[in-house]
Amino acid sequence: MKIAIAGTGYVGLVTGVVLAHLGHHVTCVDVDEAKVETMRKGISPIYEPGLEELMAENMSRLTFTTDYASAYRDAEVIYIGVGTPEKKDGSANLSYVNQVIDQIAASLERDCIVVVKSTVPIGTNDKLEQRLRDNLAHPVSVEIASNPEFLSQGTAVKDTLHAARIVLGVESRHAEQVLRQVYAGLDQPIVVTNRRSAEMIKYASNDFLALKISYINEIANLCELLGADIQDVARGMGFDPRIGNKFLNAGIGYGGSCFPKDTKALHWVSSYHDRELKTIKAAIEVNDRQKLLLVKKSHKYYDSLEGKKVAVLGLTFKPETDDLREAPSLVNIPILLDDGAKVYAWDPVGVSNYKRFYPNEITYCQSIEQALQDAELCLIFTEWADVKALKAETFRQLMKTPIVLDGRNCFSLDQFRDTGVVYDSVGRGVVK
Ligand code: UDX
Repeated sequence: MKIAIAGTGYVGLVTGVVLAHLGHHVTCVDVDEAKVETMRKGISPIYEPGLEELMAENMSRLTFTTDYASAYRDAEVIYIGVGTPEKKDGSANLSYVNQVIDQIAASLERDCIVVVKSTVPIGTNDKLEQRLRDNLAHPVSVEIASNPEFLSQGTAVKDTLHAARIVLGVESRHAEQVLRQVYAGLDQPIVVTNRRSAEMIKYASNDFLALKISYINEIANLCELLGADIQDVARGMGFDPRIGNKFLNAGIGYGGSCFPKDTKALHWVSSYHDRELKTIKAAIEVNDRQKLLLVKKSHKYYDSLEGKKVAVLGLTFKPETDDLREAPSLVNIPILLDDGAKVYAWDPVGVSNYKRFYPNEITYCQSIEQALQDAELCLIFTEWADVKALKAETFRQLMKTPIVLDGRNCFSLDQFRDTGVVYDSVGRGVVK
């Protein structure tokens, strides 16, 4: 089929490449000429394992352009995957989506299904459909479908090729049939609902996962106080299929482009309708507090960090991505710098993005060893594989004072017992 995709961020580009892989002819549209030029050369503008390889395999069916009119004019299906960033009040900013809708209305010359993948507040797609139909330049039949995206950064390609489910929010049999045809090459359960339910499924899923993380983080903080071990507790809980063993990793809170934004957006909507979601409000508050856990803990070991060399391992919000959005490092490092610490940071892919925030204030290290050399404190913000592969001796040998505050529980406690390293993680007590 002939498909156009608006936006080449994580959602748009991964969707486009996977649809090309399924045999469709896909034109990806972006406003950024430099980015489009990069993609034409087969280079992915985002770091996402497996994406560039899949792009290379399917370049014959992929076109990249800034010319939206030619891309949308005769597309059978148009996906919208542009951002819906958070506004100051927590609600979703729909200006990019609206802009694409207007461009589609001006360009479309054939009947088409417009699929909204961007996360939009419940009811938005009804309004988008009206806006689209009101502004059509040509007499074509057009319908909006909601097809929320559940991919995680770092595993986006795998998640799309092997999704747990595909949710189709449609208002007609025709839209359902067209989308079933688009996804015919994928063997995944398809959940068909009306549009509003599909929109809600996305928010409710993300917010439930965020709530699960905040819940386990609160339990972890209590475990620390009462002498229980959160990993044993989570393992014991996870065997119950009603609970499940996923998303029970305690740490310094969730970051990224979805959970923080989507919890705030649903909370905003619920409050607007006088039905405040108290559970989601709590999840947000717990997460904000949890992100500061390591700097708070550092005061157990030092009254002041003035002049201290602090090694920071990991800057991104999670491994296998260079994305810094809502990363705990972004709230902790400013505090460390304010306290007068000398920050030596290592991250395998996040440094160039981090330099945009802190070009000179931090020493960026080429290796973990360089960051740890003579450090008086080590803070682990991201569970990169290279960090998890470290040995207690490395911390002991390189650091001036081997105190490791691990915000992602990268190691077992046994690895640090009787090693001379102070190892303080989340929800598990301190090992020396
Ligand atoms: C998330 C959802 O998983 C995905 O379905 C949705 O489409 C977009 O948002 P993503 O933000 O890429 O994906 O990453 P995810 O792996 O879900 O992690 C989000 C955050 O939660 C990370 O900061 C991670 O460190 C944290 N997390 C995750 C925990 O703290 N504990 C866990 O057990 C799991």
